[in-house]
Amino acid sequence: MRLSLLVVAVVALCGSLVYAAGSSQEQLLGAIAHSPPESQQLRRRGWSLIAPVAKLPDTGAVSGWYNEAEIFAREAVADNATRRPFPGRPIGAAAGPGQRLQHIADAPVITFVHYNGDAYEHIRRHRLYRDERLAELARSGRPDPVYAGLREIPPLPSGARVMMSAWWPVAAGGGTPLPVWDPEDVARPGGSNDYTSWRRVVVVDGGDPAEGARAVTFAGRYFATARGISLERFVRLPVDRGLAEDLMEDSGARKAAFLALARPLQAGDVLVLVAFHLMAPDAGAGTWTTAWWHDRPDDGVFGADRPLVVSGAWRNYLMDVAVDPVRPLGRDASPHICFNPWFEAKFPDGGQGNGLQSNCVNCHERASYPLTAFLPVRRGAADPVNDPAFAPGRLRTGRLWSLANPPAELR
Ligand code: HEC
Repeated sequence: MRLSLLVVAVVALCGSLVYAAGSSQEQLLGAIAHSPPESQQLRRRGWSLIAPVAKLPDTGAVSGWYNEAEIFAREAVADNATRRPFPGRPIGAAAGPGQRLQHIADAPVITFVHYNGDAYEHIRRHRLYRDERLAELARSGRPDPVYAGLREIPPLPSGARVMMSAWWPVAAGGGTPLPVWDPEDVARPGGSNDYTSWRRVVVVDGGDPAEGARAVTFAGRYFATARGISLERFVRLPVDRGLAEDLMEDSGARKAAFLALARPLQAGDVLVLVAFHLMAPDAGAGTWTTAWWHDRPDDGVFGADRPLVVSGAWRNYLMDVAVDPVRPLGRDASPHICFNPWFEAKFPDGGQGNGLQSNCVNCHERASYPLTAFLPVRRGAADPVNDPAFAPGRLRTGRLWSLANPPAELR
């Protein structure tokens, strides 16, 4: 009798928690339906995801997270295993050379994906890293609750977090050019707006902290008065020999090092965090937060409301967030835009807008197996009738593109 009372109490408690999460999501969606693009409620949600991760003095809060190479490894990480230190191997490193080439943009940056313990355990327990498991789920998994005729992977637990981080190499002793994106930088509406097209660079100085103007050349362009910036203004990671060797085996990271330093990365250099994406599958379409470094981080709408719990070097990052592909509408009444200049600005316009008009949720909503093209950029609500990503018989992969594309070696 006592036991059943306890069960009833626990069930009631869980029910109310689930209800609370659902209703707060509904409240948020209701509120942002009528709010300006910089909805305060939405932005508070965005910062709340970053606050637990933004722990000084370094990336300590995420250093125990699992790397993409561990997620897709044949064998699970043993309890007593010596793990490769943070940040692990760069994006695509778990794949073969042919597939890895797909990860190299014309102007790459050093990129990693990190999964917290909840995300790692869920993916490993359900064997979602295996091609044949995804094929099986596409036939017999549970029906997708939103799109008719599709199935879905077992939903990620709400405590799961997935982060994508991007780093720029800096020479410890000298000055290294670093491109900076400004909102007015819409230089090439039709083409790629990757970092080689941005109007401004600063010079990050690992030796001399003086912040005067300097002359510098970057990607074939000369900048007469680039602003000097101290290394202290970044979240950073020292490069030892092991990390330098790992990264220089990766063609994308190698290309980034040559663009920044005009030489391979070496021990004694520093990686500075220039951008990151952080997603939580907390309710509805999840929360999609993104951040990027800026030399004037308190100017403009992306940094003005930064809470004090985000401290130290983490205060130099701007933030934007999306929980929906449409709401809150922009000032021109078009669907909500949310992008990171380091990750999405490079996407060209395929008819509906370029990466500078993209929205995390619109694109990640389409993540499904077998892999389908993630470009061109689309805008607004999903178009299940015409979009091949929503064709019946496909398997939705919890909005994670990485899961839709398990490395070829494991097939
Ligand atoms: C046009 C499509 C597109 C848009 C827009 C986009 N992403 Fe992604 N995202 C991808 C693809 C494709 C990958 C996989 C990258 C890889 O493995 O090379 C990815 C990877 C990620 C990952 C790592 C986990 C995963 O899904 O593989 C996170 C987290 C993420 N994106 C967050 C965001 C956030 C936050 C935004 C908005 C600010 C955003 N993305 C916008 C296509 C997109």
